[in-house]
Amino acid sequence: MDRQRKTARRINAVIFTLLMLGLDSALAATPPQAGIATAHPLATRAGLEILAQGGNAFDAAVAVTAMLAVVEPTGSGLGGGGFWLLHRAGDGFETLLDGRETAPQAAHRDMYLGSDGEVIKGLSIDGPLAAGIPGIPAGMTHLAEHYGRLSLAHSLAPAIRQAREGFAVSEHYRRMATFRLAALRASPAAAALFLQDNEIPPEGYQIRQPELADTLEAIARQGHDGFYRGPVAKKLVDGVRSAGGIWTLPDLTSYRVIEREPIRARYRSPHGEMRITSAAPPSSGGITLATTLNILSGYNLDAQDSVTRKHLIIEAMRRAYRDRAVYLGDPDFTRIPVERLLHPYYADGLRAAIRPDRALPSDYLPGVETGPKGRDTTHFSILDRAGNRVAATLTINYPFGSGFVAPGTGVLLNDEMDDFSARPGTPNVYGLVGGEANAIAPGKRPLSSMSPSFLQTEHGVAVVGTPGGSRIISMLVLAALDFATGGDARSMVGLPRFHHQYLPDVVHYETAALSEDEVAELELRGHTLREFTQGWGNMQVVVWDKKHAVVSAAADPRVEGEAATQ
Ligand code: GLY
Repeated sequence: MDRQRKTARRINAVIFTLLMLGLDSALAATPPQAGIATAHPLATRAGLEILAQGGNAFDAAVAVTAMLAVVEPTGSGLGGGGFWLLHRAGDGFETLLDGRETAPQAAHRDMYLGSDGEVIKGLSIDGPLAAGIPGIPAGMTHLAEHYGRLSLAHSLAPAIRQAREGFAVSEHYRRMATFRLAALRASPAAAALFLQDNEIPPEGYQIRQPELADTLEAIARQGHDGFYRGPVAKKLVDGVRSAGGIWTLPDLTSYRVIEREPIRARYRSPHGEMRITSAAPPSSGGITLATTLNILSGYNLDAQDSVTRKHLIIEAMRRAYRDRAVYLGDPDFTRIPVERLLHPYYADGLRAAIRPDRALPSDYLPGVETGPKGRDTTHFSILDRAGNRVAATLTINYPFGSGFVAPGTGVLLNDEMDDFSARPGTPNVYGLVGGEANAIAPGKRPLSSMSPSFLQTEHGVAVVGTPGGSRIISMLVLAALDFATGGDARSMVGLPRFHHQYLPDVVHYETAALSEDEVAELELRGHTLREFTQGWGNMQVVVWDKKHAVVSAAADPRVEGEAATQ
């Protein structure tokens, strides 16, 4: 049965690729320009530098990943993990590089519970016990070795240079460091790197990271082994263990990137069909995005009044996020009913129970498990002149991750263990609940919401993604609906956002997303709403409009990213 399913999925993937190539060949074969959008101007420039030196999108992705590890310690880094979604123009091959962190071998299901069975607050968030085994160094080296044109050392050079020269503290950095001040102060190596005399540094202060430059140089010289074996690995393990963590050298030497078949779906609307390619488990992104859009494919959203349109989107999100909580986890440890969750008939069933005039309380959805649940993370999008694409979402989870730097490495460790269900039914820092499928086990990858995606219509293609913890997927839903109705890179990143994640049973919204009348009307339909006066997300989009032969790129106006074409 499994073999039949796998064969069916492979056939679907081949048909999808052929359809994509058919669509591509009917329109412009290669983009007139390259485009890059990242969360930091220095990372965008590093990517452009590598493209100008003859690198392809995959080399540029290595350079951007490494540069973000240096200049955006709030979002990602060598101590974190992530997903790189790749499209190779030459043959249409697409794959997801899964560089998600793994739980150390000494991890166990109840490691964050006290003797009373309750979750010990902060244990899966602050300090080295919160850290999974990092995947970003393995992802970068895999990307360079299997897909790049330039050497790994070449693509890492801009980041190594920047780590030594330093980067300027920004207002965003100060805000995030203030939020994580206690965790940073608890790690002397982190405080020395990211604070000034144990306080938040002023804007413009230069953060120099010579030990991180040395670690990047070890990776440049020795590839994967430069991080996962030898002196760097030993310093990481010694540092973690001496501060109460549980890593061992075999945890590092056994770490591997996994190439996975991406999740594919279609959204149908009066504007035509949009194809979606997105992250597979252990990310929940692709499946939850697909379920939401499958449900919405059954409506003509253009024909609805604005309140009903938003109500239907919220109700679709509620049901898709509920499935996330119940079914999703690391596919190497838990059986996920992927075919069922992606099937249009399944979405038909979910849609049939949606009332246009009334919200369904989340408690009424069957099969809810009560037991276990971003503020940060980063995303970049790249398109090169050959048409190769990379959508990458990378993370150390919380801003500045666990706040712990392993002495002598410059590596800031993640707190990705919090993305497991510490106790099935208990919410995590994003308020997400999870089930048995996402319980902690040695070597397992925690469930993620990261959703690097490609969207393709008859007019063109968008490379898209964003940080934002549990809200990542709802942001992708709204951006995808915008692209399907003719939106461009700028409109997608600027859209006012609203979000529902099944539990808590609350609609969060940015001020501009709902008018006062819409709020009142949604309340009448049974929704509970909570306004966010500060925005969320940091979406980065590159769009290749094939019909008009134009490439555009846009960085989210809410934060400090930069987008460019060349
Ligand atoms: N740490 C955020 C995520 O993976 O979804």
